[in-house]
Amino acid sequence: MPDLKRFQFPDGFLWGVATASYQIEGATEADGRKPSIWDTFCATPGKISDASSGKDACRHYEKWEEDLDLIQWLGVGSYRFSIAWPRIVPEGTGAVNQKGLDFYERLVDGLLKRGIKPNATLYHWDLPQPLEDRGGWRNRDTAKHYADYAAVVLKRLGSRLPMIATHNEPQVFVHCGYRDGAHAPGARENEKVLAEMVHHVLLSHGLGMQAIRAYAPKAEAGIVLAPAPVWPETDDPKDLAASELHWEDANDWWALPLLKGKYPEGPWQRRGKDIPTILEGDMALINQTMDFLGLNYYSPARTRASANGQGYEGVGHPKDAILADMPGWEDFPPGIENELVQFSRRYGNIPLYITENGISVKSDHVEADGQVHDPRRLHYLSGHLIHCRRAIERGVNLKGYFVWSLMDNFEWGHGYTQRFGIIHVDYQTFKRSPKDSAHWYRQAAMSNGFEAEDTPVNEGYFAKAQARV
Ligand code: FCB
Repeated sequence: MPDLKRFQFPDGFLWGVATASYQIEGATEADGRKPSIWDTFCATPGKISDASSGKDACRHYEKWEEDLDLIQWLGVGSYRFSIAWPRIVPEGTGAVNQKGLDFYERLVDGLLKRGIKPNATLYHWDLPQPLEDRGGWRNRDTAKHYADYAAVVLKRLGSRLPMIATHNEPQVFVHCGYRDGAHAPGARENEKVLAEMVHHVLLSHGLGMQAIRAYAPKAEAGIVLAPAPVWPETDDPKDLAASELHWEDANDWWALPLLKGKYPEGPWQRRGKDIPTILEGDMALINQTMDFLGLNYYSPARTRASANGQGYEGVGHPKDAILADMPGWEDFPPGIENELVQFSRRYGNIPLYITENGISVKSDHVEADGQVHDPRRLHYLSGHLIHCRRAIERGVNLKGYFVWSLMDNFEWGHGYTQRFGIIHVDYQTFKRSPKDSAHWYRQAAMSNGFEAEDTPVNEGYFAKAQARV
């Protein structure tokens, strides 16, 4: 037996599980919901690898009570879910659908009754289709419509929501949805249009924060980002400098407007004409005081100096990398510590949460005895939590951790082929079966820590990064 060490978390550390509306709910035509861009995208041949959609997903809309019981069984303190705009304001603007609000009210009350803190995300990518038809996030008015939708939700539920995020991973829905065409709505815009869109999303965040302060004054409020967890290929000064450029372009571009009210100078210069139109008052609106920043982490963004020495480029896995089943993703725990340390050092010690972290294992299946053995996920989760603990020791104000995901679900362009859950979902019967990782996570959440074999400290990049920031 290897020596086990106890990793205990600070009192009050929040353990949670996460999902998103389109990925689990199903019932896309129930109770007045109208299509979102994801319904349209899934109906377009060739877009989803298994030609599926969120039409049924996990049937959570119907089975929500069973799911809340499972969350309670897990012993976690919080559940992070998202609210579907097309259920609340089905046309994107105008008429409010009370039945949509009723669903989330049942959910929130059901959580509170079970002693679980609701953590609601107002936008996890399901834009009402009628708004996309009017330009979507390319159109500055969408920020205003988002604020109206947020106000509707918060007027009804705000006093019962202790934690609220305005957006989930805006970087991903802008880049994958509007640059690469891999996510809804499948567009391929140029850099100028993308810069305007990012600005509109940031404006919507500012308006969303104002709505939260007005209607949910007691809530902890923030945004969930998908940073590029930049990791230099080597300690060579050229790779470190290239990594710094990558960090500025990918992370400063979002974090500085949000936290300091300005776009970063370096990327602004390098972009030439591809910069947003900023109207008077915009930057102050974007720069609202937040109570937390949510960071998602899955896999490092390995970076090196490009051949001409002027810029940076992505680099593949090292030979000994442990791969996840999502193409290009690794099980590399030092990356989460680095993401946390970098954020807290660069942007001020704002409270942080890991709002998503997890691994997909395609082959997860239920054995004859009802068990689901997922050792790769146990390895991933314990390794990443060890590095979260180390980040706390290094002064990061990390207040909680949410596993992605509570259960297997619709993984966007990959359909149902990627399983991220700590609970297995059978897509024929919709039966839920906790995996070994759910049992492990339950113990960890209930005792605020766990025993595991210690992992090597990876100081190389951290030491150098520390000197730079
Ligand atoms: C993140 C998304 C989440 C899920 C995970 C695997 O980018 O926020 O919905 O798909 O990836």
